[in-house]
Amino acid sequence: MTSDPAQPFRTEGEPSGRAFRIGLLGHGTVGGALAELLPSRADHIAAITGIRPEITGVHTRSNGTTAAEVIAGADLVAELIGGLEPARTYVLEAMAAGKHVVTANKQLLAHHGEELWAAAREHGVQLRFEAAVAGVVPVIRVLQESLSGAHIDRVTGIVNGTTNFILTRMAETGATYADALQEAQQLGYAEADPTDDVNGKDAAAKMAILARLAFDTPVHITDVAYEGIEHLTGDDMAYAKDLDLGLKLIGTAERVEGGIAVRVHPAFLYRGHPLASVNGPYNAVTVESEAITEITMSGPGAGGPQTASAVMGDIISAMIPPASTPETTQSLAVVKDVESAFYVHLEVADRPGVLAQVAQVLGLQGASVKSVVQKGLGENARLVMVVHPLLESKMLAAVELIAGLDFVRGRPRVIRVIEEQFV
Ligand SMILES: NC(=O)c1ccc[n+]([C@@H]2O[C@H](COP(=O)([O-])OP(=O)(O)OC[C@H]3O[C@@H](n4cnc5c(N)ncnc54)[C@H](OP(=O)(O)O)[C@@H]3O)[C@@H](O)[C@H]2O)c1
Repeated sequence: MTSDPAQPFRTEGEPSGRAFRIGLLGHGTVGGALAELLPSRADHIAAITGIRPEITGVHTRSNGTTAAEVIAGADLVAELIGGLEPARTYVLEAMAAGKHVVTANKQLLAHHGEELWAAAREHGVQLRFEAAVAGVVPVIRVLQESLSGAHIDRVTGIVNGTTNFILTRMAETGATYADALQEAQQLGYAEADPTDDVNGKDAAAKMAILARLAFDTPVHITDVAYEGIEHLTGDDMAYAKDLDLGLKLIGTAERVEGGIAVRVHPAFLYRGHPLASVNGPYNAVTVESEAITEITMSGPGAGGPQTASAVMGDIISAMIPPASTPETTQSLAVVKDVESAFYVHLEVADRPGVLAQVAQVLGLQGASVKSVVQKGLGENARLVMVVHPLLESKMLAAVELIAGLDFVRGRPRVIRVIEEQFV
């Protein structure tokens, strides 16, 4: 692909290096930051590669330039609009016109990844998306390139900075969920409408992409079961401390009997897990494979300049081909009912034999108790325990039975516990 000096969006007076024309679709938090970053790095990039990147067109709904004009005048299109449409159409149009595409759009890839990667292969262009998962943390590159020879067993991630900030504040200060969310909004870590962050949907899209790359099998957003953090209480945090547990919103993609399982939910971690110490708005991803044991990458998961830096890395990679698009080498089944350890929080009347009866009900479903904390007296006692791993369906059945016991007050609270510790 060569640049056309006559095309209408070229910037003025650039010195040495063959030009590489970049069309921006979207000029918001990330697009705006990229428009600032790119000119400041262009000399350096030209010195290393002999190719000078320059922004030759920008399209937003309000700036009077059409997407078609920007695509026509570019060698590479950076899709930084977000959402499904018109982003999908623009990305397809750009690739059909022989243009490379870089995107930060996780929802687009989690919904339409297979269609888009197929189009990239068909048209012989690159589709890069490092910024779509965990911001500037280079997890896509590591899965696609560095670890492409490893047989990956599991990917575990804190891939949403908003929820990690909220849970960190709840744990550190005893803040309620509502207060911690308000603080996150004041500090710019949460959107005015934080729904897709706190309900787990944003993290689910990112886990679909990570699972796709880790296991070379198609994974659609609808394959990912997710739940959010809205129902968590400071009480859970306080009791978990006694059991030496920390609470995070965790995405897991793993090989299980019969296929793979991909899910997002709050989970307790023991202190030895590498994700247990990832606090505030940070993201982190742990990759496990027999050959490598465990690798954890962490860093800022969002923010204009940070995300733009990941987009910039993709642009430079696309300037210097080749790079692969994900191939499908197998079609693994997605398994929904998987084993997990559980934290169970019961409000009970403090009578003799309560613990024994609960343990008996759990035992009927094949669950056994690993550790217990019992607090309070009279009608308001609390029984908090960690149960060894069992199938989620069995745990849900046990919870229904426990909820029906006459000494149990209110609905039992159940949160998964991740047992792995690496130190
Ligand atoms: N912000 C972050 O920290 C972050 C981190 C990682 C990934 N991302 C991803 O990066 C992408 C961009 O996010 P952002 O935060 O930069 O969004 P943003 O601030 O809302 O900016 C979106 C831009 O796209 C334009 N736009 C919106 N709808 C459009 C349409 N239908 N046609 C053409 N232009 C349209 C907007 O301008 P007009 O309104 O004038 O059209 C604006 O310039 C998203 O996929 C997001 O998930 C963001």
